[in-house]
Amino acid sequence: MPTKLAAGNWKMNGIAANLAEAEALATALPAPGCEVLICPPATLIDRLSTVLAGSPIATGGQDCHAAAKGAHTGDTSAVMLKDAGATYVILGHSERRTDHDETDADVAAKSEAAWAEDLIAVICVGETEAERDAGDALSVVATQLAGSIPEAATAANTVIAYEPVWAIGTGRVPTTEQIAEVHNDMRRILSDRFGAEGAEMSLLYGGSVKAGNAAEIFGVTNVDGALVGGASLKAADFQPIVEALAAS
Ligand code: PGA
Repeated sequence: MPTKLAAGNWKMNGIAANLAEAEALATALPAPGCEVLICPPATLIDRLSTVLAGSPIATGGQDCHAAAKGAHTGDTSAVMLKDAGATYVILGHSERRTDHDETDADVAAKSEAAWAEDLIAVICVGETEAERDAGDALSVVATQLAGSIPEAATAANTVIAYEPVWAIGTGRVPTTEQIAEVHNDMRRILSDRFGAEGAEMSLLYGGSVKAGNAAEIFGVTNVDGALVGGASLKAADFQPIVEALAAS
């Protein structure tokens, strides 16, 4: 069975005062019943991983550079994320693909860099609204999977997050049929390419996941968890999502 993972993506939100939310979550969920991950901004990774030490909640980055070090002003390497206490890194989020022109090849190179430091890569894919309207959702996701996941991917080093761009931060969620269609197709593609490893890889859904819709989404075939943005910022919002996953 793929590992169940509830992953929080704080995006560019959070200063020291917000560490209390992660602490509250860890206190409320001493044995969550699934993997739980919080990816804060880079400035908080070190402090968050310290706060969460000894708890079941892991810390992750939101991006890494493909190189281990060098003249790349403003960037953070996988070496640095690991040094700060991260065990996961989100890669190829649609906001990175849009804001920083990240290509599938960039995401693949970053994944290799993450694996070199034993970080688990959470590789994001997902279609825009125009692509879905054109009937291209499955082909767009298939192309992103083909180009963004390097050959050495395993169920242990890679998590895939399907995040339709039009559902991120909008409150609009695909129907369970639409989620199932994409997740089933991703499972088929990953199993064809990676065999048993692809069959075991965790497939997260992301985009406007909330306490109110989490249980329904986790009931969808081949959904093994969620990548949660806005609803991961407060312990009171994230806790019921984690509990819904554990109960699914
Ligand atoms: P959202 O973001 O839950 O706020 O829609 C999800 C994401 O972008 O990872």
